[in-house]
Amino acid sequence: MMTFDERYSLYRTEIENSFSRFLPEEKDNILVDSMRYSLLAGGKRIRPILTLAWCELCGGVLKTALPAAAAVEMIHTYSLIHDDLPCMDNDTLRRGRPTNHVVYGEYVALLAGSGLYDKALETVLDFGKEYGLSDEGILQSVKILCSASGLNGILTGQVLDMKNSDRAVDRSYLEKVNDLKTASMLSASCVLGCIAAGADPKLCADADAYGRAVGQAFQIRDDILDVISTSEALGKTPGKDSDENKTTFVDLLGMEGAQKEVEALTERALSLLQNFPNPAFLRELTLRMCGRET
Ligand code: IPE
Ligand code: IPE
Ligand code: MG
Ligand code: MG
Ligand code: MG
Repeated sequence: MMTFDERYSLYRTEIENSFSRFLPEEKDNILVDSMRYSLLAGGKRIRPILTLAWCELCGGVLKTALPAAAAVEMIHTYSLIHDDLPCMDNDTLRRGRPTNHVVYGEYVALLAGSGLYDKALETVLDFGKEYGLSDEGILQSVKILCSASGLNGILTGQVLDMKNSDRAVDRSYLEKVNDLKTASMLSASCVLGCIAAGADPKLCADADAYGRAVGQAFQIRDDILDVISTSEALGKTPGKDSDENKTTFVDLLGMEGAQKEVEALTERALSLLQNFPNPAFLRELTLRMCGRET
């Protein structure tokens, strides 16, 4: 039996090794350098780990889920590069390094983000079959990735988030922002694992609901850390939300109230794991996300 840490690090290694195949180095190609700069900078790899863990939870083989796992991390990384641009959150530190546009300049950072999005879809289309995904699984996976990152996902979430500056917003607005900008990708990550395992729609629906709850909790915890943590611990600059006058759950409910909300959402997520035979790893991961310090 592997411990939690052993399994986490096995998943992480599989994901990081896959990048040298899915997005290999290219000589004298600044765009590829810039894409790899952000993709290989580390980060917790929560989303692709969810993909691999849900695949195994549903009785699938890890390898089948690797192209989709790599794809979600590529899309997530793209969303961070764009989120950090001067026209958005204007951040200079990410994953413990200067942000992409600080190193490569704005136009390369913009294109690197688009390049990672494109590469994500291409990875599933080009490698899915070789890794054991069915043709239908490939199509479903691409559809899930597009919808989580598009108008019903990150893009609209980011627009609503940018509009959440210097004005009063209520709880339902924040829930919508968090659902679109963050929970959509976390839930897609879980569902993609189920698809790789060939799981039936009922299990996919559980994975979706789990990801929605965990995603909402994840963003509230991110907003808490923005207030209480340091740039050394986070690898990104804290205090951004209040600098930009963005309302978060911390403003609405106070620090304790916001963490209680994270805990309630975590309970909801845990309850969705109950029907699965071997949920120990995902249970522990869910609990750790709830109290995470980075
Ligand atoms: C940061 O995501 C953006 C949010 C949705 C809160 P992560 O906290 O997963 O960042 P990395 O991938 O570990 O850098
Ligand atoms: C970003 O939310 C969520 C994305 C979809 C990129 P934040 O703007 O709070 O993420 P951080 O704090 O910069 O990582
Ligand atoms: Mg942002
Ligand atoms: Mg940001
Ligand atoms: Mg934040």
